[in-house]
Amino acid sequence: MRTILVTGGAGFIGSNFVLEWLSEADHAVVNLDKLTYAGNIQNLEGVADDPRHVFAHGD
Ligand SMILES: NC(=O)c1ccc[n+]([C@@H]2O[C@H](COP(=O)([O-])OP(=O)(O)OC[C@H]3O[C@@H](n4cnc5c(N)ncnc54)[C@H](O)[C@@H]3O)[C@@H](O)[C@H]2O)c1
Repeated sequence: MRTILVTGGAGFIGSNFVLEWLSEADHAVVNLDKLTYAGNIQNLEGVADDPRHVFAHGD
């Protein structure tokens, strides 16, 4: 399985991209986000139990 890296994936555009990607592709996602004021981990609740999604809190 291939893996893609998404930065800013807890923001508005990024989280929607991650949810869409995981619903359509068979590739894993490493999601790197600094969780600024614009980031919200709750945007990713829909993939919280998906082993293909790995969240990394970082800059
Ligand atoms: N409900 C809505 O319609 C809505 C909500 C939010 C945003 N928007 C619009 O969407 C556009 C912006 O959306 P977006 O998703 O591109 O940006 P965003 O600002 O919503 O999110 C950016 C993400 O990148 C992260 N980030 C910032 N700096 C980082 C760093 N150095 N390292 C790692 N992560 C980092 C933030 O924590 C955040 O999760 C704007 O036009 C905005 O007006 C619309």
